[in-house]
Amino acid sequence: MIRKKIVAGNWKMNKTLTEGVELARAVADGYELMKEGREWMPEVIMAPPFISLPGINEIVSQVPGIYCAAQNCHQEEKGAFTGEVSAAMIASIGVKYVILGHSERRTYFGESNALLARKTDAVLKQGLLPIFCIGEVLAEREKGIHFNIIKQQIEEGLFHLDESVIKKIIIAYEPVWAIGTGLTASPAQAQEMHAFIRSEIARKYGTEIAQYMVILYGGSCNARNASELFACEDVDGGLIGGASLVPNDFLTIIDSFQSM
Ligand code: PGA
Repeated sequence: MIRKKIVAGNWKMNKTLTEGVELARAVADGYELMKEGREWMPEVIMAPPFISLPGINEIVSQVPGIYCAAQNCHQEEKGAFTGEVSAAMIASIGVKYVILGHSERRTYFGESNALLARKTDAVLKQGLLPIFCIGEVLAEREKGIHFNIIKQQIEEGLFHLDESVIKKIIIAYEPVWAIGTGLTASPAQAQEMHAFIRSEIARKYGTEIAQYMVILYGGSCNARNASELFACEDVDGGLIGGASLVPNDFLTIIDSFQSM
């Protein structure tokens, strides 16, 4: 089955509005050029900081195939939560996706699987699509419990969803030891885990849904290693941090799929 392919750029806490506009324009222009003479292109997502999200979303909404994501949102609909942003606010500016459960949110902001299940519901309720991040830390891989950790993250974060809703989720497998470290999972390690994730989805929701779901790889994915990672059967694209801040690198990654 040919699944949708996606390259998403997580800008994290980088780029002022002016810098972000420049980056988004460079990526959008490069994407339009790349499209010429091609039958097929992956979908591209850019996740700028909240403050730039309306501006960047306006730029990318002119370009078919490119969308914006928020990097987080609050689980409640509204209220006295100073400094937070709700899913309804994100939806109100026409943004399509929300990244949830990035390992930096889990580690530095104490986000648990249970909290992320609530955030997932909040996002879906507003018609937004979650990019749900999971991943083990190095000590868990070294102990050989990485499959259990991933299984638990999926079960506790997503398995409360109905069959009709789970299809809307994009999963991003990001081994924490590979994020921003320059250490990438090997294609074999990525494929092994992606196949495991798909088999867990199949166990709960059936093979048809599992085959349909998009599973991205993230963690030091760059212009040099993207093509071998994206060539893996169960890797449907990438969630890119550092390399998404450099237009040529990000465009090279977008161009890293074997022709379909
Ligand atoms: P990296 O980050 O590509 O800089 O490793 C990936 C991510 O955190 O999504």
